[in-house]
Amino acid sequence: MGRIIAIANQKGGVGKTTTAINLSASLASMGQRVLALDMDPQGNMTSGLGVDKDNVEKTVYDLIIGNVGIEKCIQSEVIENLDVLPSNINLSAAEIELIGIDNKEFILKEEVDKVKDEYDFTIIDCPPALSMLTINAMTTADSVLVPIQCEYYALEGLSQLIHTIELVQERLNSSLEIEGVVFTMYDARTNLSLQVVENVKDNLNQNIYKTIIPRNIRLAEAPSYGMPINLYDPKSTGAESYMLLAEEVIHKGEE
Ligand SMILES: Nc1ncnc2c1ncn2[C@@H]1O[C@H](COP(=O)(O)OP(=O)(O)O)[C@@H](O)[C@H]1O
Ligand SMILES: [Mg+2]
Repeated sequence: MGRIIAIANQKGGVGKTTTAINLSASLASMGQRVLALDMDPQGNMTSGLGVDKDNVEKTVYDLIIGNVGIEKCIQSEVIENLDVLPSNINLSAAEIELIGIDNKEFILKEEVDKVKDEYDFTIIDCPPALSMLTINAMTTADSVLVPIQCEYYALEGLSQLIHTIELVQERLNSSLEIEGVVFTMYDARTNLSLQVVENVKDNLNQNIYKTIIPRNIRLAEAPSYGMPINLYDPKSTGAESYMLLAEEVIHKGEE
């Protein structure tokens, strides 16, 4: 059965898209069949995996407004073992289009259910908001993976996010789980990163991934070449750490 993981945190700039891109590509490189599903109108997951977001014919927006079925939107084998369901700025209008629509929380789920068993993993990149797009991702997903940036305000907004996940569990998707927390942009040269990790471990009663993603310039460069890190610079610390994270994610599913 395919596992669907939503990468969510309503804070911007915490490493959601970087994690979504590189977890997807790392899983694919290990032979897992992956669907990378971009739910952010910024379309950075789409372009970061090498799909020209401004020249795609059908996107997740068309799917959300009921224009087409999901098969028509998927770009196959963008990378070996990895398909992309692209998005672009059009998706920013979806929120408005959904006003008054029945079952608007489940539109994505109804479509993804049709294809999810063709994949070992569907990885959903969420926008930086607790919006109807994020709710759609959470009703579709089996679990939510939360990237936390190693910075002073790391815990800010986290209780709101967990509350939202609990509301979705109660009202819309009783099987939704919190996959866990992954620390991103860890800077070994500062005490702050270490303090943040310790502080979150002490205060957050959630699964925390052993793999910590370091701050690595190669991770920031790769998207401008439309490549995930394992293709752009497979020997970088960033590539190594996302491989380890992918192994942990696979292993967790086997527990
Ligand atoms: N581990 C990292 N090392 C260096 N830069 C990173 C790392 N993770 C993310 N970045 C950079 O930080 C910025 C925000 O990351 P992004 O993944 O887009 O966050 P989000 O999707 O949560 O808004 C981007 O410019 C990205 O390239
Ligand atoms: Mg993003």
